[in-house]
Amino acid sequence: MCGIFAYVGSDNKASQKVLEGLKLLEYRGYDSWGIASRIQNSKFKIQNSKFTLEKHVGKIGNAELSSELSANSSQLALGHTRWATHGGVTVENAHPHLDCKKEIAVIHNGIVENFQEIKHELVKKRHVFTSQTDTEVIPHLIEEYLKKEGFASSVKDAFNRLKGLNAIVVAYAPSSEIIAAKTGSPLVMGHATDGFYIASDASGIIKHTKKVIFLKDNEMVILGKNIQLVSLSGGQKITPRYETINWKIEDEEKGAYKHFLIKEIHEQLNVIEYIALNSLADSNKLANLIDKAFGTFMLGCGTASYAALAGTYLFSRIAKKHVNFSIGSEFTYLIDYLTPESLVIPISQSGETIDVVSSIEHAKEKSSKIAAVVNVRGSTIYRQADEKILLYAGPEKAVVGTKSFTAMVAILLLSAFSLAKKQNEGKKLLHQASKNIRDILKENYIKEIKKVVEKIKKKEHIYIIGRGLSYAAALETSLKIKETSYMHAEGFAGGELKHGVIALIEKGTPCIVIAPLDETYDDIISNAAEIAARGGFIIGIGPKNNSVFDAFLPTEDCRDATFIPQVVIAQVLAYNLALSRGISDPDKPRNLAKSVTVK
Ligand code: G6P
Repeated sequence: MCGIFAYVGSDNKASQKVLEGLKLLEYRGYDSWGIASRIQNSKFKIQNSKFTLEKHVGKIGNAELSSELSANSSQLALGHTRWATHGGVTVENAHPHLDCKKEIAVIHNGIVENFQEIKHELVKKRHVFTSQTDTEVIPHLIEEYLKKEGFASSVKDAFNRLKGLNAIVVAYAPSSEIIAAKTGSPLVMGHATDGFYIASDASGIIKHTKKVIFLKDNEMVILGKNIQLVSLSGGQKITPRYETINWKIEDEEKGAYKHFLIKEIHEQLNVIEYIALNSLADSNKLANLIDKAFGTFMLGCGTASYAALAGTYLFSRIAKKHVNFSIGSEFTYLIDYLTPESLVIPISQSGETIDVVSSIEHAKEKSSKIAAVVNVRGSTIYRQADEKILLYAGPEKAVVGTKSFTAMVAILLLSAFSLAKKQNEGKKLLHQASKNIRDILKENYIKEIKKVVEKIKKKEHIYIIGRGLSYAAALETSLKIKETSYMHAEGFAGGELKHGVIALIEKGTPCIVIAPLDETYDDIISNAAEIAARGGFIIGIGPKNNSVFDAFLPTEDCRDATFIPQVVIAQVLAYNLALSRGISDPDKPRNLAKSVTVK
């Protein structure tokens, strides 16, 4: 949530670098954006010890710098893309925020929980606020501390007064340093030949360097000519721990695709093949942990929650093992059950989702073991975990999760087969699913999906039903449709139909029926018939056509992996539905953000 990008170094194009970095981070928040640069004259002297600031409402898109920022050289700049929490979407509320003297610029991710108390105190001291944000207290608070101490200790002392999970980057015009500090939200520092970069994730940094430090909570980094890493609590120096990231630059770009969403849908082929070939040791590790634990909980939010739900069916069917499931935000209310022998498996693409992060903290209080399944190495959840299982799906830029879901369920499927001592069978099914996905992504198949889209695009509601593993697929399908196309979509367990949902079916109501050739087939077809009898328009997805279907999108029968290509069909359908409903940027659905780091 919110994108942070800053640069300090020898290159005179700091403003341009920050603008480019922000464009790569925009998926983290896109209500508004802003940049503050310390502009120098041609002799590289600071003109007026203040910042040149530019802020805008709306997406950064293809924006260019204002003439003032683009014409002038700068070696220090910081920028932000916002996902509003406190204060509406206005230019005043966009970051960076400044102090009264306009010498301190701050960008922030998180929520300052005690901002009202601090603001009250600062207003009494005659500080003047220009926004409704919680963030604005930070530069004013630093301004107060600067009256009695230096830049670094002022930032440290001010930051230590903030309650909540926060990450900030601060620049002070008379100084050639930038300082970043965090207690919760992510920050990655990159050390390049031309200086230092700091961002809320590695996107944008990898273009400049692969040598990074993932800041830990309660750490502060001072970047200028050198780097100093210090503890926020005691102020002691910490030896920098560098890591090398292995993302490729192509992963960061759309290439020949119009949107990241469709690019990432296509990348699923490689993701699933990679997991089938390279994640055998990891899936064995997860299987062993589940085997030894007394009570296992899988949890996640959004798409990851449906992967976790699918996991419960996979472990039950394949490994005859009971695994509990909870959505991240509800887990806190279930922890009385946990013991030191329990295993908690948080599943997350970003590794930053706050509801999962705080669930892990609660589980740790109960001394339970944490085995995280995450896509982003070095992320908060990755670092919290005792055991780490990486997804290797590569950066996922579209807000709507696609390849991360496939990677999550592929790992879980392989682990379930490992536990059943049949790993080769799992591998085989993943290869089969990947082959089927290849066919689904061919032009002639997409044409069939588009025909279905034409029939349903003007409808207001769509319902999706499935049973067993296909119930998880139905929920994921409905999420894809609603967040991509804004059509009201609801997924249900087929058996629940007659307990209420059927009241919603009218003549022509579209309903997707997920019908694999497993033990759910006959019952889900009966449910389809019940909808058809009320005039519903039935779209069947599965290996076998049926006379009750008005439209049919076939998959291969990949047994326990059939739901993976079924979800891919849903992703392609949702993407095309969005385009046909006039949504120009399905990568960034309204009101959403890729990484939800606030409660
Ligand atoms: C947000 C995103 C969803 C994602 C969910 C969980 O809501 O918009 O696409 O599924 O967070 O994210 P995670 O990074 O934990 O998998």
